Amino acid sequence: MPSTRPEASTNRCRIDIRGLSKTFLAEGREVVAIDDASFRIEDGEFVALLGPSGCGKSTILNMVATLIAPTGGTIRVDDVPVVPGRPIRHVGYVFQKDTLFPWRTVEDNIGYALELAGVPADERRRRVAEAIRQAGLDGFARFYPSSLSGGMRQRVSLMRTLIARPEILLMDEPFGALDTHTKLDMHSVLLELWERARQTVLFVTHDLGEALTLADRIILMSARPGRIKQDFKVDFPRPRDAVALRETRQYAELFSHVWHSLGEEFAKGRSA
Ligand SMILES: Nc1ncnc2c1ncn2[C@@H]1O[C@H](COP(=O)(O)OP(=O)(O)OP(=O)(O)O)[C@@H](O)[C@H]1O
Ligand SMILES: [Mg+2]
Repeated sequence: MPSTRPEASTNRCRIDIRGLSKTFLAEGREVVAIDDASFRIEDGEFVALLGPSGCGKSTILNMVATLIAPTGGTIRVDDVPVVPGRPIRHVGYVFQKDTLFPWRTVEDNIGYALELAGVPADERRRRVAEAIRQAGLDGFARFYPSSLSGGMRQRVSLMRTLIARPEILLMDEPFGALDTHTKLDMHSVLLELWERARQTVLFVTHDLGEALTLADRIILMSARPGRIKQDFKVDFPRPRDAVALRETRQYAELFSHVWHSLGEEFAKGRSA
């Protein structure tokens, strides 16, 4: 299948994180979640933030999304400093748990952002129908979330964010709760959608296979307190086949290379 993706990265920095730190106060004691993290993400890059549980991945994402305030350092999105509590319009967030409205059907969940934005009903219907088709949910438009499988619910969540056409996409382990096969299926769906729109993506995961399948770069975090440990380039050709890629020699080599470093942090995380 020929690639329909727009030209590769323009080298424009979309997310610039410098000296970022976050200390929480919990039960009267300080928890240093992030310590002096710095990295940049360029336009159209797909970056995976990889690290063991509790290393501060969600904390970084939540600070970029303006949901929580840093203790130190700066975050700039498109060269503008982010202000906690002031959402950025062209930034979309897909959460770890699906946050669908149980009282809304698939089509009404997907169309929610367009309703909020006051998009006229005709255009809304057209864009929702297109999103349903792209996500392989034909025939399920009138279903409620409770009648869908976990994978289908995650497709709806994904489309509910993508329909607003965010240029920057933050994703927090969106497929973490899915079984291996459903997860691979979701990787194919996401890769196909991303090839078309080429959003700038920051994708949180603790699954190395997932990071290698999807990303252009893997930023490896240390166990808590979260620091940036290493930055790996993932230069497998695109478009990628989420299943076939895993059988290639390049995949196996890079997997074992990163695995060693990641394993050290998993071990530290367990003994912390
Ligand atoms: N609101 C909070 N109050 C106090 N401590 C917090 C809060 N949020 C996170 N933490 C602590 O900060 C650290 C990092 O948490 P975070 O949720 O960012 O980790 P994570 O890498 O996303 O983990 P997981 O992979 O399990 O989702 C943890 O030690 C956690 O207990
Ligand atoms: Mg998390």
